[in-house]
Amino acid sequence: MNTILVTGATGFLGGAVTVNLLKKRENNRLLLLVRGDSPSEGLTRLQGNLAKFGVDASLLNTLTAENILIGDLAEPERFTDDARLDAVTHVMNCAAVASFGTNPYIWKVNVEGTFQFARRMSLVSGLKRFIHVGTAMSCAPEANTLVTESELNTLRDQHIVEYTWSKATVEKMMTESLPNLPLVIARPSIVVGHSDHGCTPSPSIFWVFRMALTLGKFMCELEDRIDVVPVDYCADALELLLTAENVDKSIIHISAGLHSSVTFAEIDKAMAKASGQIPVAETYQKVNYRELAESKKSFSSLFGPCNERIVLRAMNLYGHFSKLNVVFSNDKLLELGMPPSSKFTDYLHRCVTSTKDATIAELMEVDFK
Ligand SMILES: NC(=O)c1ccc[n+]([C@@H]2O[C@H](COP(=O)([O-])OP(=O)(O)OC[C@H]3O[C@@H](n4cnc5c(N)ncnc54)[C@H](OP(=O)(O)O)[C@@H]3O)[C@@H](O)[C@H]2O)c1
Repeated sequence: MNTILVTGATGFLGGAVTVNLLKKRENNRLLLLVRGDSPSEGLTRLQGNLAKFGVDASLLNTLTAENILIGDLAEPERFTDDARLDAVTHVMNCAAVASFGTNPYIWKVNVEGTFQFARRMSLVSGLKRFIHVGTAMSCAPEANTLVTESELNTLRDQHIVEYTWSKATVEKMMTESLPNLPLVIARPSIVVGHSDHGCTPSPSIFWVFRMALTLGKFMCELEDRIDVVPVDYCADALELLLTAENVDKSIIHISAGLHSSVTFAEIDKAMAKASGQIPVAETYQKVNYRELAESKKSFSSLFGPCNERIVLRAMNLYGHFSKLNVVFSNDKLLELGMPPSSKFTDYLHRCVTSTKDATIAELMEVDFK
């Protein structure tokens, strides 16, 4: 019987992987690090998140307050002396401040708190695996390339946002300073929606595509490729990595790769089909920041009520990522027996349906916490 500690289970990736583990409860004891004032409050919030993945109430109700470890990675010293940690055999570390904004906790949580937590877990004698969920973007990839998993030696200047820099930093610290940690670094590419439930679990990043195509302008070429995977694929891959053999100390992308990545032109077609509109390809314009800024005054009429300055800033940040035109190699993951992911365009219609009643401003909140 394994005892699996999951962090970030109230979030998108952590929620999806917890759903998988919950379904295999007979082999696993679950301990879930959740922020909150009490285990019962944490449990209620967790169950609310897992319900968004279509889990039956009967399965959700198998979780009790005993599965909850109340703790905040901004203050790890307040939970790291909990004796239950000593019985943990596997860690799935999905918690992070995953924000493209300027959240003041990015460094404190993603670097300092995460490192202290990992150091504590490196002292657990029965620990077999510590999966740290990084991000494929933490290597600050060179534009127009097929990116393979690389060691981390990036500089702050190479990162578009503080978030990816924080993720790169903690990976390096754990790798270099915790030799006893049975570390596997899983680096998902861009996780958008769920194959069956669309954006019900989270609209993270989906709004960017909708925004760019509604405007008919963005910073990428329509022929640029983007590496997107659904959250359930990501969860299946993380589950596989939990027990896969011969992966200790490795870095592994969870990505669409060359086979399943798609172009913006393909996304345009799929989005138009799902929304009953015509593709914007004929009139689409690749623009720079200054040209985007000239459209600022039209944002509210196009996207619904929004702060046009904040939307412009978001477009600029995501625009930089969109024009990278990178694909993350998935060879290592496939070699472990994972099938290729579906394409974003295969389930995009479910993302459209599940977000049709929300404005861009409402959808983007999740990425600027
Ligand atoms: N989404 C993507 O496209 C993507 C791509 C590549 C990598 N990743 C990585 O995947 C991981 C999860 O991302 P996500 O998209 O699932 O983010 P998310 O939905 O925002 O979930 C973040 C989780 O971390 C928890 N958390 C945040 N601050 C915490 C703290 N101080 N102490 C304890 N828990 C804390 C949150 O708990 P609360 O509910 O209490 O806020 C939530 O459960 C991150 O490491 C991210 O870097 C994501």
